[in-house]
Amino acid sequence: MKPKVFVTRKIPENVLNKMKSVCEVQIWEKEDIPVPRDVLEQQINKVEGIFCLLTDKIDEDLLQRAEKLKVISNMAVGYNNIDVAAATRRGIMVTNTPGVLTETTADLTFALLMATARRLVEASDYLKQGKWRTWSPMLLTGQDIFGATIGIIGMGRIGEAVAKRARGFSMKVLYYNRSRKPNVEEKLGATYVDLQSLLKESDYVCLLTPYTPETHHMIGKEELSLMKKTAILINTSRGGVVDEKALYEALKNGTIWAAGLDVFEQEPIPVDHPLLSLPNVVALPHIGSASLKTRMKMAELTAENMLQALAGKVPKYLVNTELIRA
Ligand code: DGY
Repeated sequence: MKPKVFVTRKIPENVLNKMKSVCEVQIWEKEDIPVPRDVLEQQINKVEGIFCLLTDKIDEDLLQRAEKLKVISNMAVGYNNIDVAAATRRGIMVTNTPGVLTETTADLTFALLMATARRLVEASDYLKQGKWRTWSPMLLTGQDIFGATIGIIGMGRIGEAVAKRARGFSMKVLYYNRSRKPNVEEKLGATYVDLQSLLKESDYVCLLTPYTPETHHMIGKEELSLMKKTAILINTSRGGVVDEKALYEALKNGTIWAAGLDVFEQEPIPVDHPLLSLPNVVALPHIGSASLKTRMKMAELTAENMLQALAGKVPKYLVNTELIRA
């Protein structure tokens, strides 16, 4: 008998077909609406595998209903939407998709940095709204990128890929991470500093750290007050790493110069959110990994992880590796 699995959103046809060849697949078909909680609750006790997204909250309450579940396969590198400890206690494998989205997310991080520094969205709106009368010496002037200092918080795969891009712009690279990365220091000339020094010295502060209880509101009022008045904050990790109320105040009062945000505490961010009213905020709808090729690879890897787990193998990207050591 084929194992039953639930897929929480429409995914590429070829990936779905691959899964259908070995599994009995139920799918939440709506492209733009996350699977409602009650549907998730109904499905979770029927299936051995769930193919889910970062918009699906897989918490302890839900897992209590999961009588047959063997694997939670998340189509994302981040897995803060899943209570991994609760899954581990029940012997349920959790998998993610690192590696395949590194370069694409680094590209977006750098694009957002440049768009914010050079006020691209504001400038484009200015032109489209018919405000452009003449070339003017100080019109829409921004911040330089070439030769500036970038501070990367979270020197994982994506942090390293951003550092590589920064070197191409002759930037001085500072980083703060749980542990030092001698290979990155050697390869990319990055300098390890404590968080306070990074905040004080950087022209660009890039958040690329996972979202955990330790990183919740890691950037708040105090941290923002350490940054340069001309500094720019870029967040392509998770919204919860930043205290958005404090960020709003800092941007409004000129404590820092601008912010480029791809992620928010609440997603989608309400359109009347104060942050969106500020001209010095460039805001994107969580599209860090959104290239066609990368999203295909992420879907393929999510399915591959799931099928490996259901076949009794160790999935390629198992998060709770303690399950195989047990
Ligand atoms: C992730 O993978 O965690 C990103 O936020 C979405 O690609």
